[in-house]
Amino acid sequence: MAAGALVSLNSGLDDPILLTQWLAIAWSTEIAPSQLLARQILNRDLVLWRDSTNTLHCWRDLCIHRGAKLSLGKVSNDCVICPYHAWQYDVSGQCIKIPAQPNLPPPAKAHAETYQTRERYGIVWVCLGTPSSDTPDFPQANDPTFRLVQAGPYRFRANGPRVMENLYDVAHLGIVHAGLLGDPLHPEIEDYEVTMSLLGPEAKAIRIWQPDPDGTGQPALVTYRYWAAGPLTAGLEKIHGPHNFGILSQVAPIDANHCELRMVIAMNYGHDIPAADIRAFQDTVTEQDRGIVESQRPELLPLDLQTELHLRSDRMAIAYRKWLRDIGFTYGTA
Ligand code: FES
Ligand code: FE
Repeated sequence: MAAGALVSLNSGLDDPILLTQWLAIAWSTEIAPSQLLARQILNRDLVLWRDSTNTLHCWRDLCIHRGAKLSLGKVSNDCVICPYHAWQYDVSGQCIKIPAQPNLPPPAKAHAETYQTRERYGIVWVCLGTPSSDTPDFPQANDPTFRLVQAGPYRFRANGPRVMENLYDVAHLGIVHAGLLGDPLHPEIEDYEVTMSLLGPEAKAIRIWQPDPDGTGQPALVTYRYWAAGPLTAGLEKIHGPHNFGILSQVAPIDANHCELRMVIAMNYGHDIPAADIRAFQDTVTEQDRGIVESQRPELLPLDLQTELHLRSDRMAIAYRKWLRDIGFTYGTA
């Protein structure tokens, strides 16, 4: 094998649970009227577009006639026009016009493959099957006193569960994010409580001394709460005094080797901090994590609890692994 060649991580993208999940595929602002946006998720090529009522559509990026990519075509009169022979697909995905035979109605089978999509918190959510629930809730973002900042996407050459577990890992904050989210001179983690809900584990009352918990430059003793909102979606709440800082994180599998993390940050303070500064802080923190996560072996998260060693401070990660095992989640796990 050539040096540097990619080795498939054998991700298990065929896990049926993935087809029940809302995955973050884009930011709402990325999809302008009359534009076609090509994206990939779960190894499938997708195209996103808006009609004149601002309704968002997500289809398989493939024309059923000869397999051309619809994203190379154009939007006209609320129809997607294929770039190859100009078949016209209406908002329902039905082909309504075939220029090569204008006097015959297009066959019913001439239909784009369509998927459910939603917009919430500035994220475009897509479900490639039947959703098991509504799009994830982010309580802080529902409160109008909080400002929202979108960060990412951050691409990892890793499987989603390794990325997710990193988000639940408190003991690395003072090491990997020394000077930002923790202090290497105070690495100890007090015990904390983990409970379980239908959407996964939740960890409460984790106390951490942070030199700069939110990019404002002010040190604080903060209290963390993490909750799973699905196998690849997590919420975070960080409280210090009246300051409440939250992140909703979603990890979308792209292909067998990559996933993308999108984050929405919610803050009830710091309204004068430029969004670009908040985003840049998160970029720095995530880049620190990326190097570690991409180095982890095995790539597939071991759910047997024997393969790696576990500490009390790993309580949330242990609960996450047990829960993935209980629900039979196979993507990115072993
Ligand atoms: Fe799309 Fe022929 S491939 S119209
Ligand atoms: Fe981190």
